[in-house]
Amino acid sequence: MTFNGNHLLGLEGMSRDEIEYLLDSADSFREISEREIKKVPTLRGKTVVGLFFESSTRTRTSFEIAAKRLSADFVSISGSTSSVSKGETLLDTARNVAAMRPDCLVMRHPRSGAPHFLARHVGCPVVNAGDGSHEHPTQALLDLLTIRGVRGRIAGLEVAIVGDVLHSRVTRSNVHALRTMGARVRLVGPPTLLPSALAEWGDIHHDLASGVRGVDVVMMLRLQRERQGANFLPTLDEYSRYFCLTREMLELAKPNAIVLHPGPINRGVEISSEVADGQASMILEQVANGVAVRMAILYLLAGRGRASVEQRQAV
Ligand code: NCD
Repeated sequence: MTFNGNHLLGLEGMSRDEIEYLLDSADSFREISEREIKKVPTLRGKTVVGLFFESSTRTRTSFEIAAKRLSADFVSISGSTSSVSKGETLLDTARNVAAMRPDCLVMRHPRSGAPHFLARHVGCPVVNAGDGSHEHPTQALLDLLTIRGVRGRIAGLEVAIVGDVLHSRVTRSNVHALRTMGARVRLVGPPTLLPSALAEWGDIHHDLASGVRGVDVVMMLRLQRERQGANFLPTLDEYSRYFCLTREMLELAKPNAIVLHPGPINRGVEISSEVADGQASMILEQVANGVAVRMAILYLLAGRGRASVEQRQAV
């Protein structure tokens, strides 16, 4: 389930040192994207295959750009255009893709645990790019990289995660990583999307004002309507009346608080345009950091890079 050097399936169970190592690695790759020629030969001759069985804009593009900036070939298969739509099982798809000898597989799937299944049946590293409502490790790593980049640390910060906590793989990965790194987590949302069973993850608030009061970071979530059955919400209007992050609500957080959102954002539903486009918003920094995080992960897995972070500063 954790980064053990062979796969990146989730952040649950990962140690502080391991997370810090991944963040430091990502930091060392950030600068490549600022160059005029954004390409290094690190993964030349390697093949990364993306298996995207669920829609994705940012994550897929980010992995592709990351692979290409490292000179790897990137091939992407999507659920709707692959033989899955002809009835092929996941195991058969996996075996066939593995027979083409990729150096790394990146998988997004609507079922929790699908990348773990894949990892057991292919002989190459697997990266979880989001499995159902379970984990989304590279998203949480880029969130932490963004927080650390702006605040200089993660330990001791208070982070409010707001919205559809129940269905959120982004939350699960973040809760594990933030708490391991010493942050305090508050979970904020309506009772149907934030059951009290999740109290072991952090302080529960069913009221947005009390949830964001005094926090350092507000992490907003999209409503996962594709994963919600009926009756989770009365109406979108009512949800946004109580849980949309507006400027007035954000003013209750610390004066220098920052706002994160994994995207795609629904303006006016979970976040107002004023906040999404405002000074506190780190949404586009998150996207930029996503490329660095994925470069680091592909380097460590596909490149089997075992060099120290210091050595890699010189890439
Ligand atoms: C998230 C995802 O797909 O889990 N988005 C992303 O990867 N950037 C969050 C979401 O879809 O709401």
